[in-house]
Order: sequence, then structure tokens, then C-alpha cells
Amino acid sequence: MKDPALFEQLGGEALRAVITEFYRRVFGDVMIGFMFQGKDRAQLIQREWEFTANFLGAPGVTYTGRPMRTAHAQHTIFGGHFERRLQILRETLADHQVPAAVQQAWIDHTLALRSQITRDQGSECKDTSVVAPEHVAPPPADRPIKLGRK
Ligand code: HEM
Repeated sequence: MKDPALFEQLGGEALRAVITEFYRRVFGDVMIGFMFQGKDRAQLIQREWEFTANFLGAPGVTYTGRPMRTAHAQHTIFGGHFERRLQILRETLADHQVPAAVQQAWIDHTLALRSQITRDQGSECKDTSVVAPEHVAPPPADRPIKLGRK
């Protein structure tokens, strides 16, 4: 359920300042900035403001952008891109001293949307160093593996 108290804790103007700074960092970012080249930053800020104000419970605010899945479908967004945006968001929220409850709700909301933004499940490193012995082909009998330089 939406909690209007969350939006009130931050306020509409502070929310705009946070989102403006967030997109300033995103547009200039070495990992994900390229995806935003040629995009209308002022419009994105406005849409993101509506979107965020809405889930933080702002009364009377309507999100006028596309659904998340549609807006991101034309971009190839990997898990690492998603993590990078999340990290920039975390840092921006902390630098602006956004109230803790609002930070938590915002991050939780972002994580909950992950499957609408990227089909890439995890970006965590998978351990490929352990291979089950039955999956390792034995060396051919006529060419045994030689270890060392002898
Ligand atoms: C839960 C996380 C995310 C949220 C809440 C979000 C939110 C938004 C919103 C509100 C828009 C405007 C949509 C419109 O105008 O119709 C947008 C557009 C966009 N987002 Fe995201 N976004 C998220 C994740 C990402 C990620 C991870 C990337 C890439 C690293 C990304 C890249 C873009 C781009 C490039 C656009 C412009 C789309 C276009 O006009 O072609 N977004 N996003």
C-alpha cells in the first residue's frame, strides 16, 4: 500500500533535486551513460519524478510515461547495467541525506522492478572453477598429459 507519509518526509522539491542529480550522474557514467545519449534529460527527469512521487504516495500525481517493460525493451540492458544504476541511485540518495525510510522504499521498489527492466537474471559471478570429474574428458591414451618441462 502507498504511504503518503513517505512522500511528505522528502517533499516534491527535494525529490526533484535528487532525481536531477541522479540523472546528471547517470548521463555521465562510463558504464551506462552511452545508453542515454541523445535522450531528453529534462523529460526523463520529469517522468522519473512522476514515477517516484507516485510510488512514494504523493497525492494527485499521475505517471505519464510508458510502462517500465515497454520503455526499456529497445535497450539491451544486462544485469551489470541494472546494478550500476542501482549503485548510482544508492550513492545519490545517501549524498542527499534522503530519509532512511524513503531510501529503503525506493531501493526496494527498484529491486522489485528488475525483471521488467532486464531479462538477465543475476550479475553475480558464477564459480566455474569447480568442474565435476565426470564432466572432464580423460586424455587420449596415446597422448598422455605431460606435467612439468621434462
Ligand atoms: C527499476 C529501475 C528503473 C526505473 C524505475 C526506470 C525508470 C525509467 C523511466 C520512468 C523512464 C521514462 C520512460 C518514458 O519516458 O516513457 C526510463 C527511460 C529510460 N531508462 Fe530507465 N529505469 C530503470 C532502469 C533502467 C536501467 C537499468 C537502464 C540502463 C542502464 C535504464 C535506461 C533507460 C533509458 C535509456 C531510458 C530512455 C528510454 C527511451 O526513451 O528510449 N533504465 N526509465
